[in-house]
Amino acid sequence: MKVAIIGSGMVGASTAYRLIECETVDEVVLLDIVEGMPQGKGLDMAESAPVLKSDVKITGSNDYSEMEGADIIVNTAGIPRKPGMTRMDLLKTNININKDVTANIVKYAPDSMILVVANPLDIMTYAAWKLSGFETNKVFGMAGILDTARYRAFIAMELGVSVEDINAILMGGHGDTMVPLPRFTTISGIPLSHFLPKEKIDAIIERTRKGGGEIVSLLKTGSAYYAPSAAVAQMIDAITKNKKRILPVCAHLNGEYGLKDIFVGVPAILGRNGVEKVIELDLTDDEKGLLKKSADEVQNGVKDLYSENLL
Ligand code: NAI
Ligand code: 2OP
Repeated sequence: MKVAIIGSGMVGASTAYRLIECETVDEVVLLDIVEGMPQGKGLDMAESAPVLKSDVKITGSNDYSEMEGADIIVNTAGIPRKPGMTRMDLLKTNININKDVTANIVKYAPDSMILVVANPLDIMTYAAWKLSGFETNKVFGMAGILDTARYRAFIAMELGVSVEDINAILMGGHGDTMVPLPRFTTISGIPLSHFLPKEKIDAIIERTRKGGGEIVSLLKTGSAYYAPSAAVAQMIDAITKNKKRILPVCAHLNGEYGLKDIFVGVPAILGRNGVEKVIELDLTDDEKGLLKKSADEVQNGVKDLYSENLL
């Protein structure tokens, strides 16, 4: 299995390192437009391989043709929102990067699958699908595992129990409108409501919604990359080992949850063929309302792309 990571910044490089450390794949190629940077990071990682006892081949390049033969392309190429930038400014910048990246994926790795990380995630995943013309199961995005991991971490901190025992799922777009589902959260099979009162659960949900912003305000420059790269590596592990894991994935919907022509976070089975099945949960009216609100926000972003002739 070969993985090409486009964008060798914080998330891209951290993902590469995790794949090497865990020997998840045979080969990793780091790509970026900054001259020398992916080569330098690739060489540094290759030099760590003997200590890590890892035989994963890792290289870096500025030449997109190096992604030839890749099974999975991870697209982390994008900029974060900077002070003074409108939402539309960010959308314009990142969609133009996405167009360049996706055109090269189609050219050099037409049989690959695309795992989108660049923000705004759900909109960029939709754009990657439209621009590539790939099958719907072969284009998907990472956000839900990260959001769920934050939620699980906060619950573990509150209760003083192992993160391992906390099982949870979140849905919806990546951002403030994400849809947490405490009804489906258990700790070793015991419902979360057994351990925490509603006010505490609501406070954890609120912190999770703002989890990305909390890290940004602490770091001052840049955004989270340890948890995001762990989440990307988990998705790659599920695909390469054909694990059929049920994970929250930004996936294409064609009528599921009453939604069509949209990519948004849902529980899905991830295996060798990418998104193998979207799991449709029986949601309450309240949960359906929250999902609709989140999906509307994603769809408005996609509409903006069309109305500005960006897609
Ligand atoms: P970063 O700035 O460290 O890295 C981005 C890299 O992309 C830079 O090295 C840049 O040179 C490169 N790049 C820009 N245009 C390119 C092109 N056309 N081809 C190849 N490379 C190109 O940013 P970081 O922290 O790695 O984040 C990357 C993206 O991922 C951002 O959009 C960020 O908002 C998003 N993100 C999404 C998460 C999610 O849950 N979906 C979580 C964390 C970050
Ligand atoms: C996050 O949630 C920036 O989307 C990124 O940390």
